[in-house]
Amino acid sequence: MKRDEEKLGLYFVNPPEDVSLASIDLDRVPSHISLIMDGNGRWAKSRGLDRSQGHVAGVRSLREIITASVRLGVDCLSAYAFSTENWRRPQEEVDLLMALFANTLLRELPLFHRENVRLRFLGDLEGLPETTRDTFREGLDETASHTGMTLALAVNYGSRAEIARAARLVAQDVATGRLALEDVDEHAVASRLYTRDLPDPELLIRTSGELRLSNYLLWQLAYTEFYVSDKFWPDFDRWDLLRAVGSFQGRDRRFGGVTS
Ligand code: IPE
Ligand code: IPE
Ligand code: MG
Repeated sequence: MKRDEEKLGLYFVNPPEDVSLASIDLDRVPSHISLIMDGNGRWAKSRGLDRSQGHVAGVRSLREIITASVRLGVDCLSAYAFSTENWRRPQEEVDLLMALFANTLLRELPLFHRENVRLRFLGDLEGLPETTRDTFREGLDETASHTGMTLALAVNYGSRAEIARAARLVAQDVATGRLALEDVDEHAVASRLYTRDLPDPELLIRTSGELRLSNYLLWQLAYTEFYVSDKFWPDFDRWDLLRAVGSFQGRDRRFGGVTS
């Protein structure tokens, strides 16, 4: 995606010692970066705060990473905000998160307009409280004509449920004769996932040091490069994003073949 070089330089001023804009190759920035934003609760606990304050602080980080990604020319940024398993949390925390999603989205619409960001959701929106769902629909409508970076938020998302849903849609199309059995291939499945029109992530970042996927994009991450940061999500900033991109650029991606 096109970059505004001047804005880019201004956004990455005063770098820390170990990383700078000059340390990455701007022609090889991953086109799709995906985030597992983890560690809000532990961040809050380490400061003697309530978990909810960790989630509020996490929104700040996401805002910074959205802007940094736009500046770098990333085509698509996806982020895991709430999993199908997160309903297991105390009701109070679930309620807070749902309200936070709705309020934040409305508040950030000017940012999406200014930065030409198009919103997408991955997951089952029908399972969300009505006010949250309505706000999400409003966000989708308001940003539908934007042509810049796509921001795909995974909310009430679970990869196994997503794949089972795709299998159901395939079965339905075969049963009704719209799809021939011999045409059931990888494309037939991929085109029925929530990510159907998005490229697979090139880089996955997980914060707070956990080495697991927690039911996130199991299909789409088949050949994605992983980067794990020990920082809690609310501490993850634009420089950490550059560190992740730098690490990505040092990888030898073979996709099962051999290095050329
Ligand atoms: C990630 O932070 C945010 C969501 C899952 C909504 P956590 O809430 O999982 O924080 P930790 O992992 O308990 O520290
Ligand atoms: C993954 O984090 C989900 C999100 C970041 C939204 P969790 O905190 O739910 O994952 P586990 O429970 O540690 O695997
Ligand atoms: Mg967690």
